[in-house]
Amino acid sequence: MSFLIQPAPVARPNRCQLFAPGSRPAIFEKAAASAADVINLDLEDSVAPNDKPQARKNIIEAVNDIDWGSKFLSVRINGLDTEYWYADVVELLENAGDRVDLIMIPKVGNGKDLYAVDALVTAIERAKGRTKPIGFEIIIETAAGAQNIDEIAASTPRLQSMSFGVADYAASMGMQVTGIGGTQAGYDMLADGEPGSERALFPADPWHYPIVRMVAACRQHGILPVDGPFGDFSDDDAYRAQARRSAILGCVGKWAIHPKQVAIANEAFTPAPEIVAKARAILDAMAEAEKAGQGAAVLDGKLIDIASARQAQVVVSQVDLIEGAT
Ligand code: COA
Ligand code: MG
Repeated sequence: MSFLIQPAPVARPNRCQLFAPGSRPAIFEKAAASAADVINLDLEDSVAPNDKPQARKNIIEAVNDIDWGSKFLSVRINGLDTEYWYADVVELLENAGDRVDLIMIPKVGNGKDLYAVDALVTAIERAKGRTKPIGFEIIIETAAGAQNIDEIAASTPRLQSMSFGVADYAASMGMQVTGIGGTQAGYDMLADGEPGSERALFPADPWHYPIVRMVAACRQHGILPVDGPFGDFSDDDAYRAQARRSAILGCVGKWAIHPKQVAIANEAFTPAPEIVAKARAILDAMAEAEKAGQGAAVLDGKLIDIASARQAQVVVSQVDLIEGAT
């Protein structure tokens, strides 16, 4: 147990981040009208190399002209391993107004990557007299990012959220998979039994470790942990299952790469009414126990104690935050 208090992340809902390629401006208005909490306009991997300059122009125009309502507006720049990233930052921050809230930096490998972007962003903010500081989102999607995640999490107060980028992570790790997220054929455990007998196979979750590792780094430093993309947008059930498991592991939201995924993410990351009712009952029972000078009580035949109240408070605070903002 440490005497250090775990910092709270920024208090805003981040249940769903909807992506739109910067080279497809016709869908920006539709993204703005969606029910996603965050919109990510992309300059990186959904934009072909020759389209990068035009995509920057499209995004600057859209940031300034479209009514984004109360959404958090983020622009994903290119990685620091490319020749594009500095112009992404400079052109965007010199020409797009204060409406852009966040930039998302992909393939972050260590804390110095964020130091470099922070230095550039800080200089442009000073030069332009920008009063609202830009926040950072990053993607953990390389072996280096996964290894240096604690240093990354501690690197700059601009950092508001981290996402797990499943496809680039799989490539960087040399994983034998081709799908973007979800269960992967062959990643199973075989039930105990006689060799040669018929035995059940249990699908396992190949993304469990990096997601949990990211949640811990985020929570230690007051950063929002977010589950990344799920490529098969025709399979709502599989997307829902993945989103629910991430919510249970502590993520606050998930990306949508198609508008049909937005409602599913919003539902999965909003605590269900029965969980909220249970959490409120725990808080009430613990308040009664406290009045009676007790640290533990029985609710529905089960032990609850002060830690149960902390768990319940997480759920109630989440739902209050979402209801207050939507
Ligand atoms: N944001 C807002 N609207 C979108 C959208 C998005 N990302 N993707 C599709 N739409 C709109 C379409 O324009 C269409 O609108 P309409 O009914 O008014 O014609 C509707 O949603 C249905 O689209 P659909 O035809 O099913 O999809 P598509 O073939 O046009 O596009 C993708 C499919 C996957 C190419 C597209 O959704 C996309 O580019 N997604 C984002 C990819 C991305 O940014 N990747 C980087 C992060 S991993
Ligand atoms: Mg990626």
